[in-house]
Amino acid sequence: MQTYKLTALLLFLMFFSSCQEKEIEVLADQDFNKNWLFIKDSIPNAEAITIDDSNWRKVNVPHDWAIEGPFSDKNNARNGGLPIDGIAWYRKHFTVDAKNKNKQISIEFDGVMDNSKVYINGNFVGERHYGYSGFEYDLTPFIKFGENNVIAVQLAPEILSERWYPGAGIYRKVRLKLNEPIHIPQWGTYITTPKVASNKAVVSVETKLKNTLNTTENIVLETTILDINNTTVAVSSNKIELAKASEQKEVQKITVPNPILWDIGKPNLYTAVSRVIKDNKTIDEYTTEFGIRTIEFKKEGFYLNGKAVELNGVCMHHDLGPLGAAVNYRATERQMQIMQQMGANALRTSHNPPSTEMLQVCDRLGIVVIDEAFDEWKEAKVPNGYHKYFDKWAEKDLRDMIKRDRNHPSVIMWSIGNEILEQGKKDGWKIAKMLNDICHNEDNTRPTTAGFNYYPASFKNKLAYQIDVVGVNYKPAYYAEIREQNPDMIFYGSETSSQTSTRGYYEFPLKERVSKETNQVSSYDVNIGPSWTYPPEVEFEAQKQNPHSLGEFIWTGFDYLGEPTPYGGRDNSTNGYWNDDWPSHASYFAPVDLVGFPKDRFYLYQSQWTTEPMVHVLPHWNWEGKEGQNIPVYSYTNCDEVELFVNGKSYGKKIKGKDTTTIFAEYNGFKGGTIDSKYRLSWNVPYQPGSLKVVGYKNGKPVATKEIKTAGKPYKIKLIADRTTINASGEDLSFITVRVEDKDGNLCPKANHLINFKVSGNGNLEAVGNGNSASLESFQANYITSFYGKSLAILKATENPGEITLTATADNLTSATITIKTK
Ligand code: GAL
Repeated sequence: MQTYKLTALLLFLMFFSSCQEKEIEVLADQDFNKNWLFIKDSIPNAEAITIDDSNWRKVNVPHDWAIEGPFSDKNNARNGGLPIDGIAWYRKHFTVDAKNKNKQISIEFDGVMDNSKVYINGNFVGERHYGYSGFEYDLTPFIKFGENNVIAVQLAPEILSERWYPGAGIYRKVRLKLNEPIHIPQWGTYITTPKVASNKAVVSVETKLKNTLNTTENIVLETTILDINNTTVAVSSNKIELAKASEQKEVQKITVPNPILWDIGKPNLYTAVSRVIKDNKTIDEYTTEFGIRTIEFKKEGFYLNGKAVELNGVCMHHDLGPLGAAVNYRATERQMQIMQQMGANALRTSHNPPSTEMLQVCDRLGIVVIDEAFDEWKEAKVPNGYHKYFDKWAEKDLRDMIKRDRNHPSVIMWSIGNEILEQGKKDGWKIAKMLNDICHNEDNTRPTTAGFNYYPASFKNKLAYQIDVVGVNYKPAYYAEIREQNPDMIFYGSETSSQTSTRGYYEFPLKERVSKETNQVSSYDVNIGPSWTYPPEVEFEAQKQNPHSLGEFIWTGFDYLGEPTPYGGRDNSTNGYWNDDWPSHASYFAPVDLVGFPKDRFYLYQSQWTTEPMVHVLPHWNWEGKEGQNIPVYSYTNCDEVELFVNGKSYGKKIKGKDTTTIFAEYNGFKGGTIDSKYRLSWNVPYQPGSLKVVGYKNGKPVATKEIKTAGKPYKIKLIADRTTINASGEDLSFITVRVEDKDGNLCPKANHLINFKVSGNGNLEAVGNGNSASLESFQANYITSFYGKSLAILKATENPGEITLTATADNLTSATITIKTK
């Protein structure tokens, strides 16, 4: 539940109106994201008001300079092969009307990547290392009213500060706040629901009130609860005496009759509007979205609103593929909608505090979240990692994360770390205890957790016993043993599978090992990867055999930039080598590629996590030259049985759960070489061009089909928009799938045409991509090579309503045009 202050209209009045005599009652936050100046250079004294910045580049934030590229093997592939490091400056000029002289003025950054120092008019106001933390600085003493003011931000990100692509820049949102001397400060509300019943819920709203005046003040705090239709359902009003120059907390217990609960997939939200009223005038207004729901963690499972819920979760890094790390609400929402289509109901924000936008999306879609703070404590995984800052910053970063995020109904646990190396150290538990206590101190309504990959070391040194709910990474073979030895422990698979594959790429005869020649991994999802990885069904089976486990979080939901395993090896010796298999520079782990196209594995998860009848078949059916040869055909389904047809001829029915498919597997605790999967149905059929069709049956009745046809020669481009009308907000996006098709509309599964784009009207081409983790093409060019027949163009609307027209052309293909309305 985003907490923010209101009204763009009043904001406009405040700064630009000529009617200065007009009483502005409620002050608004200023959208401070436009018209920054940027330079990627270490300019001496760039904080000074007077330096000449006229030749700096004009940018809007959120901005990620590294995503602009170019990819280079001189950059570390582990960090995405992109230029994430170096000194850079952002400056912004602004004026504040003299009528605001008595106001409190501050600037809030949602996140700056990273090592930022902020200056106002040459004065240093603060620094922050951790790029994922939000922060606010008071500018009041330094503002020159009616004159030019300059905010200057210096960044100094380093390579190998993370094991993935962090992005670089002011990559989250910024706002300027003008407050009355008495106001509700940053993260000023803390809303919990101590009692929830069907006829009423008690909502506890704790509000911070800040009085910057040197006099005692009498105010009224009025909190109004609105339902999803903006109808008032409850109000509480308290008279309060505020001591001079003080900050105090006021708790209001408000009863909401007949509450509609927040739930997975049914995300009912309420809004609390907190008003500070003085002499009958509202002088501050603060809005908090929240939900009413109960969570319980028992050794038998996780319960939401009293009902047991199996966590079908995904881990996700924060980048948005071709858009980089620069936060965008719609891109984030699209990611999570695709995850929901796969059947996911839970997210672990690996391994750092997410954007506020991500939590808003999860609140609004009904997805539960593990909010994770750290990937390192004091022990280094990468040379410039968080270990350098842990002693000084960990407490503040953790407290700030919780204060920022604790009103989101989606958040169900606080994770204090991922695979932190203190697991193997004798005194590691002391840090865990310290962090655990901080979490409980800031929020006692949610349990703590962490992801442990050292087993049994993290149990033996007692670290795992310091937290409430134990996450185990990649250890399905030990779930039963953990339970046996810790009968009361609440636990789950905090990271699972890490199978790797490439959308559209198939190798047969099926190979046991990942091939090193192609920089691509077969989408049959059978290859054995690094030692800790295993196929999805190993986890499905372990969860089934251990029903007390809360569920699993697969690594990862979407492919991400950086960590191109299995290419480049895995090295924790911190010397930074990772480029052995260049040009691989993005992950292969996920069931969805870097641009959001499902791989075959997406449907394997769907077959396990959803109930709406579905059936999937692979591979594609264009095997020219292999006529008559046997081709392995796999089908994933949640139906009882599947029948396979080639050109209308049945190759027989296979029964889910009875007929098995032998696949390679070899993982921690299992050295068998192969397993018989009950989760995949398969046939070997001689190839003949034409139609490959599967029919799924439930109770003997056909309920789902999928058919792939051998594609003819590439003939045309097809453009498909995820949304054909978007908001003219300057931020909204339309994601256009670009397909190379034959005359009859079949996808040409091997097409690799270079597609050129032209955009006109009220929008621009924001990024392009194709999901190839080894492609060095720029995300910001106006062309992209199709990867196994597909690519993606992302259009962004301007603030002027109208139309955006995208035309795609390629040699030897009929071109295509699509028009998107913006309003
Ligand atoms: C885990 C780690 C993740 C990622 C994953 C790849 O050990 O926690 O961040 O590196 O391995 O399989």
